[in-house]
Amino acid sequence: MQSAEEAGRKAAEKPLDQMTLVDLDVIECPYATYEKLREQAPVFKDPVAGFYILSRYEDVVKALKDTRTFSSSIAEVLIGEADRMRAEDFGGYPNVDTLITVDPPKHKFYRGPINKVFSAQRVDEMESYIAEIVNELIDSFIDTGQCEFVSQFTVPLPLIIIADQLGVPRDDMALFKEFSDALTTQISGIANRDQRIWAAKKSVEFQKYFAKVLDEKRANPTDDIISDLVRARMDDGEQMSTPELLSILNQLLAAGNETTTNSLSKGLLLLCQHPDQMQLVRDNPAMIGKLTEEVLRFDGPVQGLMRVTTCDTEIAGTPIPQGAVVMLRYASANRDACQYQNADRFDVARGDQAGHLAFGLGTHFCLGAMLARKEMNVAFRIILERMKNIRLAAEGNAPTHEPNVVLRGLKELHLVFDKA
Ligand code: HEM
Repeated sequence: MQSAEEAGRKAAEKPLDQMTLVDLDVIECPYATYEKLREQAPVFKDPVAGFYILSRYEDVVKALKDTRTFSSSIAEVLIGEADRMRAEDFGGYPNVDTLITVDPPKHKFYRGPINKVFSAQRVDEMESYIAEIVNELIDSFIDTGQCEFVSQFTVPLPLIIIADQLGVPRDDMALFKEFSDALTTQISGIANRDQRIWAAKKSVEFQKYFAKVLDEKRANPTDDIISDLVRARMDDGEQMSTPELLSILNQLLAAGNETTTNSLSKGLLLLCQHPDQMQLVRDNPAMIGKLTEEVLRFDGPVQGLMRVTTCDTEIAGTPIPQGAVVMLRYASANRDACQYQNADRFDVARGDQAGHLAFGLGTHFCLGAMLARKEMNVAFRIILERMKNIRLAAEGNAPTHEPNVVLRGLKELHLVFDKA
C-alpha cells in the first residue's frame, strides 16, 4: 500500500489542469503540490475550488499588504451565499462582520478595543497559570507512560485557558469544543450539506449561550475578557452590540482553539520524527522559543486564508479579475526556497524563522499570537522536562490529518514515553 507521502507526491505529479487543493491526498501531504505551484504556477486558478492560489512568499506578502485590492470581506464566500446556511437561517442573530472579515478603516474600530483587552501584560502575567494547567494535564497520564496526546492534552489546554480568560465555566468545555468545531466545519472547504446544517445549528447554540453570558457580565462584571469587552467603548464612544460581541467571541473561541491545539500536536509529532532536534532542545532549553517558531513555519495550522479582489489586478504578471477569491497559502510561503535556506528541513537552530507567515501579517496579524506562543513555549518546556524518551506509539504508522482545506490538524497522536 502506498504511504500518504507517496500519494501526496503522486498528486503533485498530475498535470497542472488537474491539480487541486480539494484532494484528500494533497490535504494529507500538501508540500510537494505547493513546491510545484511555486515553481510552475505561482498564481494558479484551482479548477475544483475555483479560487486563485498564491503560493510564493513574496506574492502572499504583497497581497497581505494591499488590503484595498485584496479585501477580507469574505464572510459570504466562507459560509456560502448560494446555499445559505447561516445562524440567522436557523433562528440565530444575524452575522455581523468584525475583525477577520472587515477591512480598514473599519477594522481598527474593532481591533483597537480588543488589543487593549488582549494586552502583552495580560499574556505575560499568565505564565505560571498556564504552567499550572499544563502540569495538571500531564499529571492525568504521566504514570501510564502513554497518552493520546490530542484528546488528553492539546484539545483541553487552549480550551481551558480561553474559557478561564473569557470568564465562562470550565465544565462547559465539551460545548466550547463543539462550537469551535462548528466554525472549523464552516470554513473547511469540503463540508457536505448535512455537516453545514449541523454547523449552522451549533452556531445558533453558541449565540444563545454567549448572549446569556453577555447579559450576565453586563449586570455583574468580573475580571475577565467578556466583562472588559461589554464595557469597552469604540472610537465613536458607543459600546458594541450583542451581534458584534458574538462575532468577536466566535473568533476568539474558534480561531484560538483549533490552531493552538494543532500547533501543539504538530510540535510533538515533529520532535518524534526528528529525534536529533528533540535532543538539541532538551540540551538547550533556551531554544524552546525557536522550536515554537520552527513548528509554526514548517507546518503551520492555518495553511491559508482567503481574500476577495475589489478590482482587476495582477500578481507576478498574471491577471486576476475583480471579485476573484484568492487563497493566500501561508504554509507554502513558509517553505519558499527564495525566503528560507533548506526550507524543507525542520531545523530548530535555523536563524531565519522570523518573518514566517503562520500568524499572517499586517492588518489582520493574529490577535492571539502572543497567547499562542506563550502556551506553546510553556507546554513544550514542561513536556520535555517531565517526559523522557518520547516516541510514537506505533513506529512507522504516521498519524493522519483532519480533512480541511484551510486548517491543518492531526486527528490523533499516540505517544509513549518514560516518566522523568
Ligand atoms: C498557533 C496558534 C494560532 C495561529 C497559527 C493563528 C493564525 C492566525 C492567522 C494566520 C491569522 C490571520 C488571518 C488573516 O490573514 O486574515 C489570525 C488572525 C486572528 N487570530 Fe489567530 N492564530 C492562532 C491563535 C490564536 C489565538 C490563541 C487567538 C485568540 C484567543 C486567536 C485569535 C485570532 C483573531 C481574533 C484573529 C483576527 C484578527 C484580525 O482580523 O484583526 N488566534 N490568526
